[in-house]
Amino acid sequence: MEYIVELDGVNKVYGKNHVVKDLDLKVKEGEFLTLLGSSGCGKTTTLRMIAGFEEPTTGTIKVEGEAIEEKEPFERNVNTVFQTYALFPHMTIADNIAYGLKIKKVPKAEIKTRVKEMIDLVQLSGFEKRYPSQLSGGQKQRVAIARALINKPRVLLLDEPLGALDLKLRKQMQLELKRLQRKLNITFIYVTHDQEEALTMSDRIAIMHDGILDQLGTPSEIYEAPKTKFVATFIGETNIFDGTVGFINGDEVQVTVENGFITGKGDDFKFGEYITVSVRPEKMKYSETPVEGFGIKVVVKDYIYVGSVIKCIVVLPNGNELKIERLAGESLPEIGSAIYPYWNKEDAVLIHSRENSIFEALDNVVLA
Ligand SMILES: Nc1ncnc2c1ncn2[C@@H]1O[C@H](COP(=O)(O)OP(=O)(O)OP(=O)(O)O)[C@@H](O)[C@H]1O
Ligand SMILES: [Mg+2]
Repeated sequence: MEYIVELDGVNKVYGKNHVVKDLDLKVKEGEFLTLLGSSGCGKTTTLRMIAGFEEPTTGTIKVEGEAIEEKEPFERNVNTVFQTYALFPHMTIADNIAYGLKIKKVPKAEIKTRVKEMIDLVQLSGFEKRYPSQLSGGQKQRVAIARALINKPRVLLLDEPLGALDLKLRKQMQLELKRLQRKLNITFIYVTHDQEEALTMSDRIAIMHDGILDQLGTPSEIYEAPKTKFVATFIGETNIFDGTVGFINGDEVQVTVENGFITGKGDDFKFGEYITVSVRPEKMKYSETPVEGFGIKVVVKDYIYVGSVIKCIVVLPNGNELKIERLAGESLPEIGSAIYPYWNKEDAVLIHSRENSIFEALDNVVLA
């Protein structure tokens, strides 16, 4: 089977609150897929529906080709790791991990071997007899993961599992989780609101915004070719220009912006339409004289040193700031000098603006 989890036209409504909107999502067997989005965008709700804890208001969810509600919870090949580890405080680490197998009445000898295997896998040998209160946050998290993995799920759902850890431990656990996922070849559906975590760990990222799936793609697709303004600004740093299409010449699209004009490449844009242009700071160039296709002028305001790169902050006449990134050691214009920013036209990402549909809708309104 190509897809292990399939969501088709899924909506979730709580009272007046439409939390998940027309979600179509197909998860491939063995992949590490991350649901990424800001707080309240519907990530946990989506995960809980896949786990079968929550029913969609409309739409269907299938796991291994079967509707999730057809199966009793203990028959499902899906396990969940929550942000709060929810370990049993009165049980030892070994007993916490063994719990799922005891419920399933797996023979004692087998439980013993599998618990040992899991403890080795998450590198907790020697901790078997301790209680959860005697472990650090990262160790507790590993117990929670071992407890879910021992059931040999086909799909593991993880809801911000590293949220409570400090940055250093988080980074270490990110690598460990990725290693485990590869080794066991289990499909992971992982929830986070941390874009860096999503970029480092995932095969594909699903970016959610206000209950809508804005884009699904590999980390590089999402970074290089964001499909919406939200995605462009949510992942990494970027410079955003809003404007209208002023001129089209072959695949070159010239965009009129508040302070002049800029150019990028695209093939399905119309004269006059609202458009957003995103240019990453590392793609920005500058010149002391105007460059063909570009008509914006800025003043250099400041430099920010970030280790191996320097961010040059420049200001447009309307007060908006842009960032130009350079490697440390490269030459840079002086603070206070006026420069003309430009870029390779194919380095700009042109995005159809949501305003177009608003104005099209207004065009269709007939006043009585
Ligand atoms: N049981 C519920 N009843 C009513 N509204 C709910 C319920 N559960 C969630 N919501 C609402 O649905 C929206 C999405 O919640 P959800 O928990 O899925 O967000 P999230 O993306 O996981 O956010 P976070 O990153 O903060 O965990 C929120 O506005 C939330 O208040
Ligand atoms: Mg959540």
